[in-house]
Amino acid sequence: MKTLSKIALALGLSALAASAMAQPKPENFVKQRQSAFALIGWYFSPMAAVARGEQPFNKADAEARTARLVTLASMPWEGFAPGTENVGNTKAKPEIWSQQAKFKAAADKMQEEMGKLAALAKAGDEAGFKKQFGVVGGTCKACHDDFRNK
Ligand code: HEC
Repeated sequence: MKTLSKIALALGLSALAASAMAQPKPENFVKQRQSAFALIGWYFSPMAAVARGEQPFNKADAEARTARLVTLASMPWEGFAPGTENVGNTKAKPEIWSQQAKFKAAADKMQEEMGKLAALAKAGDEAGFKKQFGVVGGTCKACHDDFRNK
């Protein structure tokens, strides 16, 4: 009994802490998503030169970048919380909130293709990697065209 009530107390407290934490300011949601995307750009964009054949393919580098990118690709979406459209310096279009299924599909597609890119890096498949880099880039562009202001 003693243990049970301790557990209940612990659960009650952590539920409280969680609901207190679930109320960041709207501008912090914008920071969350912009920071996640900034990191995605940081690890992704330099590989364009490899895909174009201007820099040699380096398996270890491609693997390290895509491992981070797979994790990062899961992160920006929680930053698009309700009520965070038109906040601060956001470039997010209001259509994200009015066409949520379409936005989610674009987010899922990017993550799926990023997973394939990571697998190709791991396999050391240079030709496949270069081709897939373009596919992933296309998923970024598709969403930016529809859902991001210039
Ligand atoms: C499902 C939609 C979607 C996908 C997929 C997507 N983006 Fe974005 N991206 C956005 C939106 C929306 C913003 C603007 C966020 C804001 O300003 O609140 C953004 C912003 C950015 C920014 C600017 C961040 C900043 O500093 O403010 C970069 C860089 C970026 N994206 C890179 C990428 C790359 C690289 C990919 C693909 C690997 C990608 N994005 C995929 C929707 C997407």
